[in-house]
Amino acid sequence: MKELTLVTKLGESHEVIIEKNMTIVKLAKKNKIQWGHACERGICAQCRTKVLEGAEFLNEVTKEEKLRLKKAERQDHYRLGCQIQVQEEGPVRLWHVPY
Ligand code: FES
Repeated sequence: MKELTLVTKLGESHEVIIEKNMTIVKLAKKNKIQWGHACERGICAQCRTKVLEGAEFLNEVTKEEKLRLKKAERQDHYRLGCQIQVQEEGPVRLWHVPY
């Protein structure tokens, strides 16, 4: 699989190999990239992530994200890193933007 770009909250950019069925939080952990998280269940929002590119290659927004994020945030391409999974190859760029 191809790579995706993870941008940390400090603005550091990392290229990592995409692994299907693995959330962005788990992928970041595996690659030793700091991506805040506490619950991994869509509750704490420490993993809040902005999709900069490639939303069409990701899974659908989950019900946890619909509950935790405001509609305006979702419209502005915010999601939760513990809920995002890459479904198809393509250029994807994600930015960790906690509150
Ligand atoms: S880790 Fe808590 S909402 Fe994602």
